[in-house]
Amino acid sequence: TEAELYTLYKGMYLPSHLHSPQSLAYFEGFTFRPDDVVIATYPKSGTTWMQEIVPLIMSGGDPAAVESLHNWDRAPWLEEQRASQLNLEERPSPRVLTTHFKYNLMPPSFFEIKPKVIYVMRNPKDVFTSAFHYYGTTSYMVKPGSQSEFLHKFLDGIVPFNSWFNHVKDWLNAEDKGHIMYISYEEMKMDLKDSVARIAQFLEKHLDREVIEKIAERCLFQNMKLNKMSNYSDVPQEFMDQTKSEFLRKGIAGDWKNQLTAAEAEYFDTVYKDKMKDVKYTFVWD
Ligand code: PPS
Repeated sequence: TEAELYTLYKGMYLPSHLHSPQSLAYFEGFTFRPDDVVIATYPKSGTTWMQEIVPLIMSGGDPAAVESLHNWDRAPWLEEQRASQLNLEERPSPRVLTTHFKYNLMPPSFFEIKPKVIYVMRNPKDVFTSAFHYYGTTSYMVKPGSQSEFLHKFLDGIVPFNSWFNHVKDWLNAEDKGHIMYISYEEMKMDLKDSVARIAQFLEKHLDREVIEKIAERCLFQNMKLNKMSNYSDVPQEFMDQTKSEFLRKGIAGDWKNQLTAAEAEYFDTVYKDKMKDVKYTFVWD
């Protein structure tokens, strides 16, 4: 149950297996550098994908950037236990960092230093679909239960990192958006080359077209799936059972159409319309 597996932190559940009071204290005291790159996401929105793209861009397309370290070490989640063990203070710049936290939960140093942030968003129906499959595979997440049960939990934010709506609205309402790039999973699916080029431009990395193309090619779903430093195949089966559902599962936009019933999709839309009514941003999936 939630009470057994999760820690309640500032109104949201976090899997206790990955987050501890020490790791959260480390997060709260974290010191950013101006040249850090922060990948921020609501879970299942394209985190791992961006953890592949950004290190490749920063290294000028060097495959070693994504073959020598696992994604959780090359772009560690700052709030997770692992980060506090990596000696990030000694890591040479530019560091690539990840967070599933909301803008308003970022530590004080973030608001002083304003490092570059790439915030990745994905159609929440596909986030739901991806999470529904993923939650069932890990020992440290509460099992989703039936689809309709999980749908209600997801829409009410009774899941780790709270609700998708709060997360996306919080980052879209950032007080200073000058250092934040907003991009969607769907845009990346539609044109990965163009997305890589835009991300490189935002990161002020001037790369030749061939390098951009090579990076985009490497980061295609079927190619990235082969990288054992990014496909979670090194996680012991007792923690993540990929025989049930692979971490890099389908990698498509619109899989919700295969998952939600017509009634569930309609209900989702009703909740979505209500919760997003004051949001000015135009999403690709709207
Ligand atoms: S997590 O647990 O928050 O880190 O998960 P996250 O990486 O954000 O999301 C996992 C989903 O992203 C898909 N994925 C990709 N899609 C397209 N191309 C590439 N290269 C890629 N890499 C990861 C992954 O398959 C999960 O989505 P689903 O829909 O479950 O396949």
